[in-house]
Amino acid sequence: MVSGVSFEPTRSTQNGSLIRLDSNENAYGPSTKVAVAIRSSVGSANRYSLSAYPALTERIATFHKLNPHQVLLGCGSTEILRMAACAFLGRPKQLIQASPTFEALEHYARAVGSDALSVPLTHSYAHDLDAMLSHASASPSLIYICNPNNPTASLTPRTDLETFIAKLPPSTIVLIDEAYHHYVGESGMYRSFIDRPLNDDRVIVTRTFSKVYALAGLRLGYAVASPQVVQRLRRYATENNVNAMVTHAGMAALDDTAGVDEFVQRNTDDRQEFFNQAMARALKPIDSHANFVMMNTYHSAEQVIKHFRQSGVLISRSFPAMDTYIRVSLGRKEEMTAFWRAWDMLPFAKNIMHH
Ligand SMILES: Cc1ncc(COP(=O)(O)O)c(C=O)c1O
Repeated sequence: MVSGVSFEPTRSTQNGSLIRLDSNENAYGPSTKVAVAIRSSVGSANRYSLSAYPALTERIATFHKLNPHQVLLGCGSTEILRMAACAFLGRPKQLIQASPTFEALEHYARAVGSDALSVPLTHSYAHDLDAMLSHASASPSLIYICNPNNPTASLTPRTDLETFIAKLPPSTIVLIDEAYHHYVGESGMYRSFIDRPLNDDRVIVTRTFSKVYALAGLRLGYAVASPQVVQRLRRYATENNVNAMVTHAGMAALDDTAGVDEFVQRNTDDRQEFFNQAMARALKPIDSHANFVMMNTYHSAEQVIKHFRQSGVLISRSFPAMDTYIRVSLGRKEEMTAFWRAWDMLPFAKNIMHH
């Protein structure tokens, strides 16, 4: 190893670079234990991760008390979304999703020739399951449920999802994306479909190591599904899709439960602080169950995003379905201070309460 190399996570406030509040990453990680595992995995970089792949699959299965045949690894959960589009979409099948939601699956759906049907969220920013059901009854579909939803950070109640899934045509596949699972906290509305499975072969659940585990740059995600569905998805996996270093990092991340607890607590505190700052400015963000917040600016989001960019702060792109809202990923204290400083420089910042 080269001495003198810093392994500190990049501080976006250093070197005059942009502050990145745009991709819902973990601004603090990876944890010390995971960083140590990454460093000591350097020696494995010259080898294909052939034996590590089944070992990590088993580790994840044990973690969730599942059979390894129910677990499929991906190069980020994005690869799982691509596999799902390849395995379960293609003309004449359609993707049914919320609007707005995380759009990677839509891109892959279109690439394999499927239409994407986007159903607006309800007034409480939940998936409109009744509308989704009526579309699903009309033609064969893959349904994407992002819970908590990106970009709104909102929940769709578990009981509603159960009722919905029970009514779906037998051939429908439901993919539940739990990328932000760890940040939900105590909520009677939420229960993971991995922790409390439905025992329904139509359900695929995805998770990622990119968020609470802070490994977005190393790319690791997984699906939990029935062995048959896992087999079908696997046909479309890239060979050697999981790199040697992230197998070590992933195992260490699962072992480091104290590290996860700490990240979750920090996120809870950062989220509370965001809402305090927002309230002090008469702003009312959407209640957040994730590591980002969406809020109405009552002005063109495009213009607001541009203003922040000029102030050195990157926030999310705009969402046409909610074009006066911005999505802000929670960052470190100094990054959020920069965010609010830039907010207060918006020409309408002082008048927002008149809306
Ligand atoms: C809801 C959701 N799913 C999946 C992903 C993709 O994550 P990754 O491919 O890094 O696992 C993201 C990334 O932001 C996301 O927000």
